[in-house]
Amino acid sequence: MTLFDGETRSWDEVRDDALACTNCPLWEPAGDTVFGEGPVPARIMLVGEQPGDQEDRQTRPFVGPAGKVLDDALAEAKLERSELYVTNAVKHFKFVQRGKRRIHQTPTAGESKACHPWLRSELDLVKPELLVLMGATAAKSILGSSFRLTQHRGEAVDSDAAPIVTATIHPSAVLRTDPSEREQYFASLVADLRTAQELAGLR
Ligand code: URA
Repeated sequence: MTLFDGETRSWDEVRDDALACTNCPLWEPAGDTVFGEGPVPARIMLVGEQPGDQEDRQTRPFVGPAGKVLDDALAEAKLERSELYVTNAVKHFKFVQRGKRRIHQTPTAGESKACHPWLRSELDLVKPELLVLMGATAAKSILGSSFRLTQHRGEAVDSDAAPIVTATIHPSAVLRTDPSEREQYFASLVADLRTAQELAGLR
């Protein structure tokens, strides 16, 4: 999809356009588009799945429980969040309402595709040296539906999205797994973040 007819747009202009996005039905029940945040350009860009309940309320990526796991993992991997650009493959919260609670639903491939032009625009503007895709939705959005996270996590994968592209688990996987495995999952996320920096020569 050509969004901007080859025009060069600033990050603010692209974000403002994304705020008015109706490319898929997710915009209607959700709050505002949750665009990425961080320095532009940035050496490292992280991509998650989609905003959750807290992110939708605060219109910022990774500020809820998964964001806390991410912040802890970044601290362990000696990465400063303020130096990273953090965004999501899908920029509206997909949920089902159960009483007062809004329960997260995984976005479809079609919803991810509808949001892809925004992610590509962010990549064009941020120009990261290292792109870290967190979870299957982010990984498939950039690397295609045949990409298998379980087989290739932590590796440098071939992609035109950035000089070094790697994929790892989503921080929420640490929260979803059995408590007896949480420490191990968290340690593996930190290890992948460290390896990614090494692959990109940033450590
Ligand atoms: N999960 C994500 O993938 N992104 C967020 O911003 C929050 C939770």
